[in-house]
Amino acid sequence: MDFAKELLKWYHAHRRSLPWKRTNDPYKIWLSEIILQQTRVEQGEPYYLRFMERFPTVQDLAAAPLDEVLRLWQGLGYYSRARHLHDTAQQIVAGYGGRFPRSREALLKLKGIGPYTAAAIASFAFNEVAPAIDGNGYRILSRVFGIDEPVDTGAGKKLFAELAEELIPPAHPGDFNQALMDFGSLVCTPARPLCTDCPLSAGCHASAHKSVEKFPVKSKRTAIRTRYFYYLFIRHKNSVFIRKRTEKDIWQGLYEFPLIETAERVPPEKLMAGEKWTALFGDVPVKIGRVSEEIKHQLTHQILYATFYTIDIPNISPALQTGYLNISIEMLDDYSLPRLVTFFLEK
Ligand code: ADE
Repeated sequence: MDFAKELLKWYHAHRRSLPWKRTNDPYKIWLSEIILQQTRVEQGEPYYLRFMERFPTVQDLAAAPLDEVLRLWQGLGYYSRARHLHDTAQQIVAGYGGRFPRSREALLKLKGIGPYTAAAIASFAFNEVAPAIDGNGYRILSRVFGIDEPVDTGAGKKLFAELAEELIPPAHPGDFNQALMDFGSLVCTPARPLCTDCPLSAGCHASAHKSVEKFPVKSKRTAIRTRYFYYLFIRHKNSVFIRKRTEKDIWQGLYEFPLIETAERVPPEKLMAGEKWTALFGDVPVKIGRVSEEIKHQLTHQILYATFYTIDIPNISPALQTGYLNISIEMLDDYSLPRLVTFFLEK
């Protein structure tokens, strides 16, 4: 079986029409790839269109305040990606006169552009023979060629990269890369791939051995961390308190309500008798209103269990005065908030 030939044949009959395919502008391609590293095509498309509308060029993105970029990114999660996006745009404007470097090698020199993204831009925008292997690519190649080397190690990545360099057709590098992505989303899917309709199944190791679910192999399952977040939605007249998350942690740069984090689940009496509570309120009398249900929020390597306390206070304690912004409730819209927090507000 000629892998590339069969794949391209499938692609020409079944390719998806997506806005970032109708361009060879490296800026648009780059932006779409960063968004699609974070989410599925269906969810990513409206984000891509909104970014394009607001930031039609890399200069527009570079010139925007970070908060605005974060706000457009809101809902995609993993906000360091949005920060890197903004950083990289500024690098391109400051160091390259706003013009994307025109080869994989030169793109890789940019902080924030890794091997996958560099190859995607180089092949889609400049027709460079550079394989862009994402999760789809690893899955397809490992199944078809029966490769049980882990895909998440340096050695494994190198092996797959070498194989892809052999397979990519010099005349159609961009289509080949795009075909792997579409084929991985539509046919060679993670669960229950459509092997009976698959044009590659005749030559597919995993299909022949009925072992598609064994591929791709991963070396480690990352441990999942569990955290308990108690958010205090504290109202003083028509205002509430927020702070910016500055720690090197999830949601850096986003805003949130005063938070008490614990390693275990804590009932209200215990929370209210605790040190952190006392430090926050001092001797201000608090009136506890609604206590939300516990909301489970799954991130890539963490599970958060969040509870929101609605609290009214008649005057502002010193800790709230110094450590937090006091803004009117209507102003909340102007701040980038984690999805978990907007979810609470919408309710
Ligand atoms: N996933 C990542 N990049 C993609 C692209 N260009 N098209 C479809 N799915 C993708």
